[in-house]
Amino acid sequence: MSCRYSFNPFFKTKPDWSGPFFSFLEDNDILDFHKALPNYKPTPLHRLIKLARILGISELYIKDEAHRFDVKAFKPLGASYAIYRFLKKEWAKRFASEFDFNSFKDKKKIEKLGRFTFCAASDGNHGKAVAWTARQLGQKAVIYMPRGTVKARIDSIESEGSRVFVINGTYDDCVKRVSYEVRKNRWVEVADTAYKGYTKIPSWILNGYTTIFREMEETININDNINVDYVFLQAGVGAFAAAGASYYVRKYLEKRPALICIEPQEAAGFLDSIEFGRGQPIAAKGKMETIMAGLNCGIPSLVAWPILKDSINLFIAISDNYAEDAMAEYFKEGIIAGESGASGLAGLIALLKDKNLKHAKNKLKITKKSRVLVINTEKDTDPENYRRIISKMGLK
Ligand SMILES: Cc1ncc(COP(=O)(O)O)c(C=O)c1O
Repeated sequence: MSCRYSFNPFFKTKPDWSGPFFSFLEDNDILDFHKALPNYKPTPLHRLIKLARILGISELYIKDEAHRFDVKAFKPLGASYAIYRFLKKEWAKRFASEFDFNSFKDKKKIEKLGRFTFCAASDGNHGKAVAWTARQLGQKAVIYMPRGTVKARIDSIESEGSRVFVINGTYDDCVKRVSYEVRKNRWVEVADTAYKGYTKIPSWILNGYTTIFREMEETININDNINVDYVFLQAGVGAFAAAGASYYVRKYLEKRPALICIEPQEAAGFLDSIEFGRGQPIAAKGKMETIMAGLNCGIPSLVAWPILKDSINLFIAISDNYAEDAMAEYFKEGIIAGESGASGLAGLIALLKDKNLKHAKNKLKITKKSRVLVINTEKDTDPENYRRIISKMGLK
């Protein structure tokens, strides 16, 4: 299957997100929460002049989440904020005093709430983030991972002191299994995807990711003066893309940059929903096989879906070879990007080069004056495959 695309027939210039469903978007303590975490540092924003020239655009900005804490991906932004909000809520049920950012770093205070086991389904990065957060709080985590998960990703989660179960199923099967296990064992589900009856924690996770975009407010996301025309947002369950999309809609409304959602061609739940779902989210129709493991999710998150449905201009599904090309381009620039991490840049490269996307490129009006932002969302979380791809591309 080759690259596919669909412009968004549901696109709204001015989405109305004023109803109760969207009230979580009003939370405004997110960046301050992250700034209060030990070892917080904003991730770097690179301006890649040479690659922009090669691609025939004016500016190419890369926000590099490979450097987020020591976790190799952006995901701890979501897990930490969601677990903080969960504990704050638990505290409010039982104590009259405040639970603030400092309380979150206070193991003794958290112990007063009891012992928790946080449980999540994950292709790797979200599980690592939940395990990382649990360890810092002195609490436990149990992570369910799909068949075929590479050992490096399992080891990385276990190194945080968490238990990992690899099940004979997909990521979406893991989500179902987690929902069953948490009820049976009285654990706390920390899912990054929302489904019917379970939306609160996924909405906090989505909000947590908005820190990535807020951190650029002194560089490209300046008040009233956006310095970028196109933003490429990769999607698995869609929380990351919805974080970017909600940020830009709320800050710039109709003056926002064009938003392009990127998925693997065999796991394109959002593109398939846009094309075949009659306005409703449906499961991806592909084979769920891709090297972009973090994006290998079939069912759109119910909190991400309405946001992306209203605000994304163009949905693209790309073939794996573009992820490899993007990893190689990053490597040449001294940036380490794993398969899913590189997929935003891969979407840009595909849009500019793939003959099946030519019409989309022209309609979107990407020209040599265009300024583009992509986010490298992970480092080499599968180091063996990373080395294999880089050497296959004739590098190193
Ligand atoms: C590296 C990486 N990038 C992007 C994503 C997509 O995020 P989401 O599942 O919120 O769409 C993931 C998800 O795990 C990921 O691991």
